[in-house]
Amino acid sequence: MKSEHPKPVLLADYRAPEYLIDTVNLDIALDPTKTRVVSKLSIRRNPQSKSTAKAPLRLDGELLHLESISLNGKKLRRPAYAIDDTGLTIASPPKEPFTLEVTTVVNPEKNTALQGIYLSRGVYCSQCEAQGFRRITYFLDRPDVLARYTVRLEADVATAPVLLANGNPVARATLPGRKRHYAVWHDPHPKPSYLFAIVGGDLALLDSTFTTKSGRKVDLGIYVEHGKEARAHWAMDSLKRSMRWDETRFGREYDLDVFNIVAVSDFNMGAMENKGLNIFNDRLILASAETATDTTYESIESVVAHEYFHNWTGNRITCRDWFQLCLKEGLTVYRDQEFSAESRSRTVQRITDVRQLRALQFPEDQGPLSHPVRPDTYIEINNFYTATVYEKGAEVVRMIETILGREKFRAGMDLYFERHDGQAVTIEDFVACFADVSDLDFSQFMRWYTQSGTPELVCDLTFDRRKKAAELTVHQTLKPSHGKAKKQPQFVPLAIALLGENGNEMDFTVEEGKEIRPGVLAITDRTTKFRFGNVTSRPVPSLLRNFSAPVNVTIALSDDDLAFTMHHDSDLFNRWQASNKYAARSILTLLDAKRPKPLVASKAAKFAAALEHALRNPDLDDAYKAELLKLPSVADVSREKSVRVDHAAIFEAHRAFSGAVAEKLADTLDDVYARTSNGRKFSPDAKSAGRRALRNAALSLMTMRGMDEDYTRLETHYRKSSNMTDAAHALVLIAGVDAPARESVIQHFFERWKDDHLVIDTWFSAQAQSPRAETLDDVKALCTHPLFKITTPNKVRALIGAFAMGNPLQFNRADGAGYDFLAEKVLAIDALNPQVASRMLGAFRSYRSLEPKRKNRAKAALKRVADATHLSRDCREIVSRMLE
Ligand code: PHE
Ligand code: ZN
Repeated sequence: MKSEHPKPVLLADYRAPEYLIDTVNLDIALDPTKTRVVSKLSIRRNPQSKSTAKAPLRLDGELLHLESISLNGKKLRRPAYAIDDTGLTIASPPKEPFTLEVTTVVNPEKNTALQGIYLSRGVYCSQCEAQGFRRITYFLDRPDVLARYTVRLEADVATAPVLLANGNPVARATLPGRKRHYAVWHDPHPKPSYLFAIVGGDLALLDSTFTTKSGRKVDLGIYVEHGKEARAHWAMDSLKRSMRWDETRFGREYDLDVFNIVAVSDFNMGAMENKGLNIFNDRLILASAETATDTTYESIESVVAHEYFHNWTGNRITCRDWFQLCLKEGLTVYRDQEFSAESRSRTVQRITDVRQLRALQFPEDQGPLSHPVRPDTYIEINNFYTATVYEKGAEVVRMIETILGREKFRAGMDLYFERHDGQAVTIEDFVACFADVSDLDFSQFMRWYTQSGTPELVCDLTFDRRKKAAELTVHQTLKPSHGKAKKQPQFVPLAIALLGENGNEMDFTVEEGKEIRPGVLAITDRTTKFRFGNVTSRPVPSLLRNFSAPVNVTIALSDDDLAFTMHHDSDLFNRWQASNKYAARSILTLLDAKRPKPLVASKAAKFAAALEHALRNPDLDDAYKAELLKLPSVADVSREKSVRVDHAAIFEAHRAFSGAVAEKLADTLDDVYARTSNGRKFSPDAKSAGRRALRNAALSLMTMRGMDEDYTRLETHYRKSSNMTDAAHALVLIAGVDAPARESVIQHFFERWKDDHLVIDTWFSAQAQSPRAETLDDVKALCTHPLFKITTPNKVRALIGAFAMGNPLQFNRADGAGYDFLAEKVLAIDALNPQVASRMLGAFRSYRSLEPKRKNRAKAALKRVADATHLSRDCREIVSRMLE
């Protein structure tokens, strides 16, 4: 295959485009197998380009059938132009601006990669980010070419009564014969091609309106499968709240007459921010009490907000090139996290976000796929929609806010919007706005964007009772990674408090070392020292409060110090952090224990006492208590270990510890479970969701004891459930144990939901995540289930993804069968949808930290993938980075 050894793209090679495209006129006649696209482009030389007079015009294009091409109305013939697998070249175009008209034909039905125009359950839709527009027509398919688009869409009235594109609707009519009709859309805002979108299909509409702060009336539409309209209300509500929030928090107003969202069933990612026409994976739009969990409600709220917020951070101001992806993604994730924090509990949101960062980004950054927030080289850009670019990218923005404070940060954002509206810019442009409003020097800070890896802060605190002084020493290390042996120390804002004997924050003074703002220390060097005065008793340090930077902190604290922090820290995030650390550490000590039984009992007893104290605290809300009760997972504990990881051993220790904690807390858990009992009418609000979360967390922990009564309670929980949150929680738990009711519950869930293609994904996942030894066989059997479809990304993720990424025990089977299974599936999927296949390969990202036997088996499976004759560029890049 020609794409076997593609050349990497380098940031250092960036050049401004030689040509610009000002307007695009598209006429798209939708047809399942022969969609014809007539494209009229007005093109001119870029005055900014440094290229010489004779510049050939090279347009990107893939998998297109070219029908005709003409320039300024004259048909072009070879050799005036040439085409190959990746594009079209016109050797010597006119010096003056000209019009190019190109007709191409594409086949939506055969498009299993889901990039360009494809069909999803009979609905025509498109996906262009990052480089899908070149699968629709020949184009300068790069984000720094901004054009105004007018689109005429034509389709059968019967199959596609709804025709949508970006911008505002201009005209629509039925064609003679009444079988075909068309709609014309115009988008007044210049945009890069990756934001282009069209939809054509038979869809139901939920509509509403929103009036912006300056009085612009916007028609809002959410298009879904017929009969599912009622499930779109939560998304609509979330949309309106997002629109209002962006006005009040960031002064950003919407800028078109309409805003449409379309839910489709086949989608490679979560959702896409196409200008005025967001396209969503239906999993992130549809919700009702019976069909969606509270977690789904939360995800819908945050993703609807995320895509909407892109209108300013991504669309109005876009990326100069794909290396700058975090310019829009990190910033927009930061914005959606802030929105969620203000809509719900700020602390719980922070805990959720940090959990996610540690579970997804930390392992990525510690393994072979590590890359900077702004990468400087890639082979396939689709491989860089990563937790590092998104989640770590958001943390970097949050650090800017921590350094500047709320107000200055807002001033920097205002300057960014004012200075760069309508432009395609870089991270340097973004950061310069904050430097300009603050007069601070951000040059060291820029290393967050250019250096990969998670900084380790090894801290040491000493106390001098006589001098009433304490000294904090912080050693910073950043592990070398491929291609970067030596890394420079980063600028870390370290939020800190010292807790006194009574648990209150001490009022200390900083006598040596730099404070950025009260309580936030500046870590700048490999070793940074601080001296604090007015420290009246032995302090217990509260470090990295509210997770002020995406780093790992280690400091010697006793179990008693952790319990003390759990009781007293005024930073609730750090209370949770202490509890989590305490539990993970206890489990790890069991691994090397000579006499594990008595050790389990004593460790569990101490931890349970600390936890109980928190659970009985009336000042803490249910959602927060639920976070405390969710002990660190097997995967969380494995990450703490980081070398020679044996998931089976960790699983055993985890089970023993959790079971013992549940035993000790039996009465408290019973109380919690009873107090939070259901019976109320379902409401998705944060408080009700918190109550359900606490009840389900208590249920999980009680189930860890594994006694008959626990399994009875679990079955009753399922049978009596009146919403999907409770039903799905019980299903996952029961699928994971050998309870007598296991089979009948799984069967019952199937019968109840087999006609709902979204809910049934929960059924697949529950079985795939079970720690039982039979799981791999079950998963293999489910791959042939009539409701499983290998061409539907949601199905692949629900079954194969849930097994590979959500089942550390069975995926990492000692015999390597989990790895072999994944390798085989990745190859099968790769032939259909490279983007999805390459994501699945990510399950191997931490294989190097496995104990030697597993590591070798994982490596052998990866080698088998690497040896395949036909491998996409996507998978090729990932597998070679893993094996390098
Ligand atoms: N830009 C989308 C988002 O973050 C993600 C996406 C990337 C969707 C590539 C599709 C393809 O919201
Ligand atoms: Zn995004």
